Amino acid sequence: MLSREEVRKCLTNLDPVDVVRETLADHDRGISLLPAEAYLRWENSRGAYTRSIGMPGAVRSAYGMKIINASVSNPAIGLERAGGIGLCFDAETARITTIMEAGLLSAVRTAAVSAVGVDALGYGGAVSLAVVGCGAQGRMHAALLAERLPSLRKVTLYDRSPDAAQALAATLPGISAQVCSSAREAVSAAEIAVFTTTMDTGYVEPDWASSGALLINVSLGDLTDAAFRDAAAVYVDDVDLVADNPRRPLGRLMAEGLFGRPDSTGPARPLDGTLGGILTGRHRADGVASPYVVLNPFGMGVLDVALYAAVSAQARAESLGTALHLG
Ligand SMILES: NC(=O)c1ccc[n+]([C@@H]2O[C@H](COP(=O)([O-])OP(=O)(O)OC[C@H]3O[C@@H](n4cnc5c(N)ncnc54)[C@H](O)[C@@H]3O)[C@@H](O)[C@H]2O)c1
Repeated sequence: MLSREEVRKCLTNLDPVDVVRETLADHDRGISLLPAEAYLRWENSRGAYTRSIGMPGAVRSAYGMKIINASVSNPAIGLERAGGIGLCFDAETARITTIMEAGLLSAVRTAAVSAVGVDALGYGGAVSLAVVGCGAQGRMHAALLAERLPSLRKVTLYDRSPDAAQALAATLPGISAQVCSSAREAVSAAEIAVFTTTMDTGYVEPDWASSGALLINVSLGDLTDAAFRDAAAVYVDDVDLVADNPRRPLGRLMAEGLFGRPDSTGPARPLDGTLGGILTGRHRADGVASPYVVLNPFGMGVLDVALYAAVSAQARAESLGTALHLG
């Protein structure tokens, strides 16, 4: 069993962006398994949206599952919004071999997908970044993109809680970090804008983006229908996950027939591709394009499972963790 601190130690000796990039390509090659998620939602006694998601997956010799639970009222009682466990399974016996804290890796995986997307979609030379929503995901995105984008000089930040944006600004030495008074001000100043809020009603309109920007819709609910419709290109991580979830805006637009699968013919506008498809050469990325490009990463459990396997192997090599005997 690995605590968050032990997971963090393991991460110092492996590159999560490499693991995510290889797994996205493996997924496109059809050598992974990614069943539909199990999704359970309820309202807690405070009336807050509360949910549990079970995400199994397999790639190469890695088998496992992510269980990630969240309640939007958690921050008010001093808890992170989301938390859970990652499980590794033995490929022969299916027995659970490792249990690890999953919140840290969830943020690392999600930010790593965005880092791969920035590169694959031709935005690796960006000088400016906006982060809207400065919680766990926003912080990890800012840290990872600051580390991976050598030309990054300026970060504009917005959070409905100004303290969260100020706290994030203080963690970015060597980069000009500006706390903005609106999401629009932050977004319009940046070549790459990452949305990591908890909004479920779209508010980002097409004229917010700077010309040729990349909008990374991590929290999935921030873009209006018009912002999807007017994009020069719309990329996803996995088409099935997006299409199977009409409760999210892009899935709903697919169900309504506005967007279709990549390479589909017919009246629906085809999605422009998947990150894995771009990495394997099956889909094409046209690079920076006006008015702006959208990446809508739904979140693939198989990427977490690949990271769990890498972390578990590293923990064994370093003799980290606590042995549990279940009897
Ligand atoms: N697509 C994926 O793969 C993926 C993976 C993990 C999490 N997520 C999503 O990312 C989002 C952020 O997760 P988190 O763990 O960082 O949550 P969090 O609660 O730690 O942080 C959310 C932050 O957004 C701010 N915020 C909320 N609404 C806002 C608004 N309208 N404008 C500005 N700021 C606002 C909050 O004040 C908070 O600081 C969630 O919606 C989560 O579901 C997506």
